[in-house]
Formats: sequence, C-alpha cells, structure tokens
Amino acid sequence: MKKIVIFASGGGSNAEAIMKHFSGRENIRVSGVFTNNPNAGVLQKAEKYGVPTIVFNREELNGDIVLHKLDTIKPDLIVLAGFLWKFPEHIVQQYPDKIINIHPALLPNYGGKGMYGLHVHTAVHNNKETESGITIHFVNEHYDEGNIIFQASVALDDCATPQDIAAKVLQLEHKYFPAVIEDLLKKEF
Ligand code: GRF
Repeated sequence: MKKIVIFASGGGSNAEAIMKHFSGRENIRVSGVFTNNPNAGVLQKAEKYGVPTIVFNREELNGDIVLHKLDTIKPDLIVLAGFLWKFPEHIVQQYPDKIINIHPALLPNYGGKGMYGLHVHTAVHNNKETESGITIHFVNEHYDEGNIIFQASVALDDCATPQDIAAKVLQLEHKYFPAVIEDLLKKEF
C-alpha cells in the first residue's frame, strides 16, 4: 500500500480531486490531510472521504511534532496542494524526492515568494500573457525551484480577468494532479 499525505491551507479543491481519485483503491491511499489552518475548507473535504486530519501551528511544523506525525505514517509521497507556509528544511531532508507541489503558472515564470493565489494570475493578466498553465515540481529548500515533473498550458484568449485565468488554471490542476501523483507512485512499485 502506497501512502500519500496532503498539506493544504485553504479550500482544498485539489486535495478533494486527489482524495476522490484514490478513494476505494487497494494499492494507493490518502493517509492524512495536514493543515496549518483550523478553518480550512479542506478539513470538511477530508472528513467526507474518511481521511484523518491534523491541524498544526508554526512551532509544531518547524519543530519535531509534524515530522514525528509524518514518521508514524511513513508516506511514500507528500503532496503540497495549496499549502501556503514555507515547507521546513528538516522535513525536506528527511523525505528527499518525496515532496511535490503544484504551482498555478508555468515556472520558472511567476514563481517565488509572494506568488500565490490571485497574485499569480493578476501578474499573468497584467503582462498580457497569451497562455498560462500549471507546474508540478519537487520541493527543495527554495520556493518553487525544485525539479519540474510536469507542466501543462492553456490559452488565455477567452480570459478577461485574473479570476477567469484562475478558474481555467484550476481546471487543469484538477485534471492532471491526481494522474501525475499516480504515475510517480507507480514508478516506485
Ligand atoms: C491552487 O491554485 C494551487 O496551484 C495553489 O493553491 C491553489 C489551491 O487551491 N498552490 P485549492 O485549495 O486546491 O482549491
């Protein structure tokens, strides 16, 4: 049984797409949803799929508590799906090549500190880009700089606002993220 742990800070539509994709599977399971936000919508979504949840604060993330909780699960893959805090180095070192993130743009453009949520899509809109997309990448010690695993792009000709871009990119995320996770885990079988 391969185990996935998801870290999310918000609504968790990607987390939901992943939980839905793997629900009822015999060989891959989402074993936990970890969040820094006690009000995150992702908590209800996890409950709906019967996935255990853990809420932590910054001290617990940067100290030993979150790492210890991960070690009791021993995940094969840690998936950051809209996780807004910097992921701590000591966990990255403990789980090398086992942590991935999704970014709602075509890295290396529109990445780095402060580039999250609508900030990304507003920058893309202001620069009159004709396309945007998603990037799924490994997580290292620097924001949005780990090796790229997968990218997909989408034309923006019918997008009048940053919100339109956000909606279109989010659809791509839901379409590809679960499948890319499955591919990564299958490579390890
Ligand atoms: C997604 O756009 C993801 O790329 C970014 O944060 C957003 C999370 O959305 N990292 P949701 O919580 O999965 O709905």
